[in-house]
Amino acid sequence: MNERVANPAHPRVYLETYGCQMNVADSQTVSAVLRRAGYVNADGVEDADVVLLNTCAIREHAEEKVLHRLRELARLKNSRPEVKIGLLGCMAQHNRVAIMEKAAFLDVVAGPDSYRRLPEMIGSAGFDASIDVRLDRGETYADITPDYGGGVRAYVTAMRGCDKFCAFCVVPYVRGRERSIPPADLMREIGELAARGVKEVVLLGQTVNAYRFGDTDFGALLGMIASIDGIERIRFTSPHPGEMSESIIDAMATEPKVQPQLHLPLQSGSDRILTAMERGYTVAQYLDLVGRVRAEIPGVALSTDIIVGFHGEEESDFELTTAIMREVGFDSAFMFKYSVREHTRAFRLGDSVSEEEKGRRLTALIALQEEMSLARNRAMVGHKFPVLVEGSARRGGGMMAGKTPQFKTAIFRGVEGIGAGDTVNVRVDSATGHSLMCSIA
Ligand code: SAH
Ligand code: SF4
Ligand code: F3S
Repeated sequence: MNERVANPAHPRVYLETYGCQMNVADSQTVSAVLRRAGYVNADGVEDADVVLLNTCAIREHAEEKVLHRLRELARLKNSRPEVKIGLLGCMAQHNRVAIMEKAAFLDVVAGPDSYRRLPEMIGSAGFDASIDVRLDRGETYADITPDYGGGVRAYVTAMRGCDKFCAFCVVPYVRGRERSIPPADLMREIGELAARGVKEVVLLGQTVNAYRFGDTDFGALLGMIASIDGIERIRFTSPHPGEMSESIIDAMATEPKVQPQLHLPLQSGSDRILTAMERGYTVAQYLDLVGRVRAEIPGVALSTDIIVGFHGEEESDFELTTAIMREVGFDSAFMFKYSVREHTRAFRLGDSVSEEEKGRRLTALIALQEEMSLARNRAMVGHKFPVLVEGSARRGGGMMAGKTPQFKTAIFRGVEGIGAGDTVNVRVDSATGHSLMCSIA
């Protein structure tokens, strides 16, 4: 048997992360908070004293995955009752009552603004769960340096929360009000990352381009970060189309470190649906923005998010979405079936499009996007790009992988002396919808 003696001074924690990059970044903050308090990392749930799930509530499917995992953990708790199990993140914030009913064995339930208190919460959890889901508009964790993993790229939270309240979206309810991390803290943190060999930073926020701290707007922040020695590439996600000011487009156009890549969530190509979604822009405004971005940032890659089957979406609305997708020609897109979320403004409207119809629309849209992605990537054949090397390609065989400025995966045969963190010039030989096969130029 694999017996081991727990070391009470250094309890082992296993942290599992679901959801978006912001949750991945939050988990690094959680990790840092716990490490300061004496915790060490466990290799898996088997050797953990504490198991934490950092969860996502964006769609029902995301919550189902976690509920499934919780049923597995219930068995672990049964066989080893001393293990403490905690639910963190957006789902903890969203549905704590329902979750405590479904998983009464939980010891800790902590929302995204409660991570500073985690050691205390885990320590005090006994017969009753320790629950803290207060949202705190002052919490930015600015003073806590997250435990970054290795690698050439680091994701850095620049702002937290969201004030947009799109009718379908749970984020403002689970993440609370918008707040920006002071530029000085970001500069210090990114400086430290650069000193550790990080070459690329991705600034994160649900509406990252709404960043503002005093007089520093997002365009100015990009310029400041570009001045950090050692940082070669800067990206950000997700900007909101309604917040794409000239200062940001300008920084992208003039600052070579800011990469020609922009994720601009469209959600729908129908004005009627955009209004119902309360997105705050029209299709014409979105297309005008795309035009300006493409004119000022040559070679920019555009990606987007689309929801199909929002309440009231008719076939004619869906056709408008496919038409816009064709017209813009996104390099890639994330596409989702609408999922009704409790607490949101659209919740009371319910679902008007059947699951089957949503599936049909989604399948059609994915097929269209695959065509577009392939066409966009094929257009790169013969062109040269500087690629920031990340390491061996997953397919092995001496192949290496990295990203082009447009954030496309480039795969090429490795050569002596080139490794992670180097930038090499490659020429694209062939393309699929997902990657570019290249040779060193
Ligand atoms: N802050 C970003 C995206 C946040 S969530 C933005 O404003 O664009 C990522 C994506 O999930 C969204 O862009 C949207 O396409 C999708 N999404 C959010 N809520 C959803 C819901 N209730 N059902 C289906 N998809 C949803
Ligand atoms: Fe959700 Fe809209 Fe905020 Fe994005 S901008 S996180 S979609 S409410
Ligand atoms: Fe999910 Fe929360 Fe991100 S709801 S998408 S993990 S902000």
